[in-house]
Amino acid sequence: MSTFSQAPTKRRLQIEHLLSPQSARTDDGDDVVRGLTQTPKTLPPRYFYDDRGSQLFEQICDLPEYYPTRTEAAILEQYASEVARMTGACELVELGSGSSRKTRLLLDAYQDLGYSLRYVPIDVSAGILQESAEKLLEDYPSLQVRGLVSTYEQALAQLQPTTLPARMIFFLGSTIGNLNPQECDRFLTQITTALEPGDYFLLGIDLQKPLEILEAAYNDSQGITAAFNLNMLNHLNWRFQGNFEPNLFKHWAFFNQENSQIEMHLQCQQDCTVSLKALDLTVNFSEGETIHTEISRKFNLEKMRQYLAKQGLQPLHTWTDKNDWFALLLCQLQ
Ligand code: AVJ
Repeated sequence: MSTFSQAPTKRRLQIEHLLSPQSARTDDGDDVVRGLTQTPKTLPPRYFYDDRGSQLFEQICDLPEYYPTRTEAAILEQYASEVARMTGACELVELGSGSSRKTRLLLDAYQDLGYSLRYVPIDVSAGILQESAEKLLEDYPSLQVRGLVSTYEQALAQLQPTTLPARMIFFLGSTIGNLNPQECDRFLTQITTALEPGDYFLLGIDLQKPLEILEAAYNDSQGITAAFNLNMLNHLNWRFQGNFEPNLFKHWAFFNQENSQIEMHLQCQQDCTVSLKALDLTVNFSEGETIHTEISRKFNLEKMRQYLAKQGLQPLHTWTDKNDWFALLLCQLQ
């Protein structure tokens, strides 16, 4: 393989740490304090994703029970070229890029149309961001990557103007389902602020389907989802000098019909006290008490389209799989 005609991968890669110690905000961990001092206790899902958590999530994506990843990938495999044709050349900004597996399907489509490839992955996990960016650069010789180790909010507020004709922010995997309606409103305001009129937003959403299928996807037989849920406690331990004993907690996931959402909790198996030194926080747990770690909403497609339109994100096209289990929506900022 000839590498003479292209800049070496290092010169096409830029990674910025908006979460590095130097730029760490003094309110880091405030959300943990808030969550663990309220009743019932909660923790924000973004704390799933330390390097170990991101690896566990990758394993979840390959589980036979976890249908969302492969269903969305199948939609992209079939329709990424339509997405690229509809948007034309644009800068690709991905929220929660993780391993960037599905990103390749989009990059291929834009490359096939002869567009320059500029990719801005955003992820809170530095390890997986760096590793996947390096792999992409090897496989796409003209690709330029500017990765941001950051929360969505920080990154969206700091996007640089693009020199390409447009920008497309994409948010796959139905991660938007982690946000409650109020958080979702705020998030979409951040999106519409980061975009210019005419720019695009590509959103993957998980749809309603029979309860057994939903609950199995979050209670896999190999216990990977349980390990993923419990790993949040390990993450808090190293990040905030804590002494959670993960083996005192149990994974619990079920579908809440009323709110149309999967809920994940960690249930404490015996009375205990936990300290997080870096946060100056001591918390008591009683036997049976739960920490609510995640919601994963399952959407109604038509309602979602109306909601996006109301936020100024006009749906241009929707693609689904043959069972209507998952949908991909391309929207344009008015
Ligand atoms: C990455 C947030 C979309 O909600 O299905 C997988 C995370 N949690 N198994 C989801 C998750 C438990 C996933 N998202």
